[in-house]
Amino acid sequence: MDLLLLEKTLLGLFAATVVATIVSKLRGKKFKLPPGPIPVPVFGNWLQVGDDLNHRNLSDYAKKFGNIFLLRMGQRNLVVVSSPELAKDVLHTQGVEFGSRTRNVVFDIFTGKGQDMVFTVYGEHWRKMRRIMTVPFFTNKVVQQYRQGWEAEAAAVVDDVKKNPDSATTGIVLRRRLQLMMYNNMYRIMFDTRFESEDDPMFVKLRALNGERSRLAQSFDYNYGDFIPILRPLLKGYLNICKEVKDRRLKLFKDHFVDMRKKLASTKPMDNDGLKCAIDHILDAQQKGEINEDNVLYIVENINVAAIETTLWSIEWGIAELVNNPEVQRKVREEMERVLGAGVQVTEPDMVKLPYLQAVIKETLRLRMAIPLLVPHMNLQDAKLGGFDIPAESKILVNAWWLANNPAQWNKPEEFRPERFLEEESKVEANGNDFRYLPFGVGRRSCPGIILALPILGITLGRLVQNFHLLPPPGHSKLDTTEKGGQFSLHILNHSTILMNPTSL
Ligand code: HEM
Repeated sequence: MDLLLLEKTLLGLFAATVVATIVSKLRGKKFKLPPGPIPVPVFGNWLQVGDDLNHRNLSDYAKKFGNIFLLRMGQRNLVVVSSPELAKDVLHTQGVEFGSRTRNVVFDIFTGKGQDMVFTVYGEHWRKMRRIMTVPFFTNKVVQQYRQGWEAEAAAVVDDVKKNPDSATTGIVLRRRLQLMMYNNMYRIMFDTRFESEDDPMFVKLRALNGERSRLAQSFDYNYGDFIPILRPLLKGYLNICKEVKDRRLKLFKDHFVDMRKKLASTKPMDNDGLKCAIDHILDAQQKGEINEDNVLYIVENINVAAIETTLWSIEWGIAELVNNPEVQRKVREEMERVLGAGVQVTEPDMVKLPYLQAVIKETLRLRMAIPLLVPHMNLQDAKLGGFDIPAESKILVNAWWLANNPAQWNKPEEFRPERFLEEESKVEANGNDFRYLPFGVGRRSCPGIILALPILGITLGRLVQNFHLLPPPGHSKLDTTEKGGQFSLHILNHSTILMNPTSL
């Protein structure tokens, strides 16, 4: 760092300290803020609590400070909600007041300051984007149009695993093949296209750029510049990398997918809705002037992240739990054989007849929530919550993982026991009908992709268990299920090697 910058930074820090002290004095008089650790000027609670505010650390703070507490992270207010009643208030009763999103310096780059749908503030743009995306992505018609494609993709995974001699000897990192499957499931919907293999050059490029985007966005490395604006100049290098990745990514989406599809549409006009893929609908909306070209690309960006990664992480967690709980795995296999008949491959319409498989999916999403704190919410105006004042533009985290793993609310929540969803919790669904269980959120900003995610999870896990005994690799009795959290994501730290013995030869 050059000396001038250091001098400027120190001076800025001093000025910020003075301003923060005055503001906090004034604020203290005006607001009845939620409890929390005592903040120090400038840094707030940041130095006390650190960067990694994952669902487990935040559950520990809830035990100490209560079901609503406030952390000052530099200049930012972070309010954490940890009871079903308060979750209901944020997501349902005051769903409009708390229906915005916070972004940060990095998410601002990747979403063009909220030109997308997932990270945009609550308002006209969000409503329009959600409406435009519903018909091409989030209806039962879409499930019926694509479910055979998803079944074919799962069958292709089974075939490839069977062909690979390592599968039943040393084991394979199954995730790699499942990642290709998830890209194909979503790129079929978006662009009516798929990638042949893990080595397909376009797939390799996409995977690398999307991976880089996620790593940069979910990292804690940029917190200092986000929490303390005066330090932002020091983030310049990081933000430049983000900008470069964003530009390369959007260019790839445009040149190789959106424009290709446009060209195809102009040479071979589509005469009925049945032949349209999602991007055709989205381009129609652009032609009508409802959205602009950037919005189109940000829709593609959102699906690449919100749909592919979350579902892949959940599949990966499901497999890990099935390997580590062989009795559960046996029961899933037995149910399919009993209900469908030996060797009959499971399809989407079968799901309603397979309650145990559904319970396994629910239990996976309970214990291993892919987005354990939901996507952060935000109140645009000053608001009230749980009898406290919440200053405008606070980041509101709903600790959905704790709601679903609090021993005061669930019977032995640390156990992976799908039976709970057939016994004492048989009325609980994944769609948010119970505020203790919100793997997809609930209310205005809830996940519209649930309608696709549940059948994809069912088909994939079902086919794998039908065709293979899923086991830990030789020399291991269990898979390592250490978690890796990000700004609001949760996935498995080590992508496991899995031994896959065919159930029939
Ligand atoms: C197992 C897979 C998935 C999980 C666990 C999951 C979970 C979530 C969660 C927790 C939220 C935030 C809810 C909130 O903030 O209140 C969300 C939002 C969202 N999800 Fe999903 N999701 C999954 C799959 C998908 C899929 C397949 C798609 C698209 C095809 C999708 C699209 C979205 C979108 C667009 C939003 C933003 C909604 C908004 O802000 O209005 N998700 N998801």
